[in-house]
Amino acid sequence: MKWSRTNVLVTGGSGHIGSNVVKKLVERKAASIRVIDNLNAYPFNQLKVYGKEFQDADRVEMVRADIASKDIGKHFKDVDVVFHLAAYADVAATIYNPDEDFRTNVLGTYNVLKSSLDAKIGKYVFASSAAVYGNQPPPTPGEPPMFREDMKPNPLSTYANSKLWGEYEANLFYKLYGLPTTSLRYFSVYGPMQIPKPKSHSWVIAIFLMRALKGKPMVVFGGNQVRDFTYIDDIAEATVKAAEAAGNEGEAINVGTGVPTRIDSLAETIKKIVETKIGMESTIDYGPRPKGDPLGGYAATSKARKLLNFTPQVSLEEGITKTLDWLLENKNLTPDYV
Ligand SMILES: NC(=O)c1ccc[n+]([C@@H]2O[C@H](COP(=O)([O-])OP(=O)(O)OC[C@H]3O[C@@H](n4cnc5c(N)ncnc54)[C@H](O)[C@@H]3O)[C@@H](O)[C@H]2O)c1
Repeated sequence: MKWSRTNVLVTGGSGHIGSNVVKKLVERKAASIRVIDNLNAYPFNQLKVYGKEFQDADRVEMVRADIASKDIGKHFKDVDVVFHLAAYADVAATIYNPDEDFRTNVLGTYNVLKSSLDAKIGKYVFASSAAVYGNQPPPTPGEPPMFREDMKPNPLSTYANSKLWGEYEANLFYKLYGLPTTSLRYFSVYGPMQIPKPKSHSWVIAIFLMRALKGKPMVVFGGNQVRDFTYIDDIAEATVKAAEAAGNEGEAINVGTGVPTRIDSLAETIKKIVETKIGMESTIDYGPRPKGDPLGGYAATSKARKLLNFTPQVSLEEGITKTLDWLLENKNLTPDYV
């Protein structure tokens, strides 16, 4: 495909991952890039933080709109590729507000899919989540499971269920109507510009680093949970590659590193990096594992290699160090509630 002849629409393009996808599309010189976002996800001006990634690029148009509104289709005219990243994207928040989860993640996703079909776009890429796996049986007791795309999904939250619905609906739009769709199951994303949301325990690397820099203890809830931490730039690259690579239509594909990390060992790694890099001592406290918090697992990566031509580039230590560098330069963006 030729990006210079491709008009792109990114929903959620003023969020953490979406703005990094837009940045990649600017670098690839896409003909035009339209962002649809309602700018409601954070208690600060998102355009001042995430918009920095693209606000100077004249090929980017920002549309403030809600994907759950019926007339969203009017923004899809002449669009060739849609990256659908807008979501009510905080698992904890969806548990307290399933209405908003349904409104944005199901109804909004339906609107984006249907508008993509009506506009006869050439490719639809959907941001799904490793949360669709929930808990899976460990290969041997105590060993974390590798999440393979052919495993039976087991959503444990309305968020995970809404993402799974989005995958199935995208797959059906491909099979029934021929809309070329691909779903990506992102594993735990982290990196510069990730700012935890109020009352959320998601995004543990950002939370631990911010607390360490404030001199507050990092609090490990449980500790034996496993996550596959995947650096933001790798996530954005895999997302763009999903549109570039041929032959992945109708598929759901993991985007992760294939490396499991326990949360207690993550805290130790961050403690070591902060001490080595800026000579600051940090402390670790422990609490009980929250109910419903999945034990987790790590990504099988062969499907992404084959169907996205994607291999992650950034190791956990390197990614944490880059995140720390960004935080040190942007201390004003650390929220009071962390
Ligand atoms: N961060 C992760 O670890 C992770 C993991 C798996 C999947 N995902 C998925 O990746 C996508 C991006 O997540 P993120 O981490 O960048 O979150 P984010 O909250 O930073 O970005 C989501 C964006 O969607 C926008 N949005 C929310 N509701 C909307 C609506 N009704 N209409 C229009 N815009 C709306 C928000 O303003 C925000 O800019 C989401 O679909 C999320 O579910 C994220």
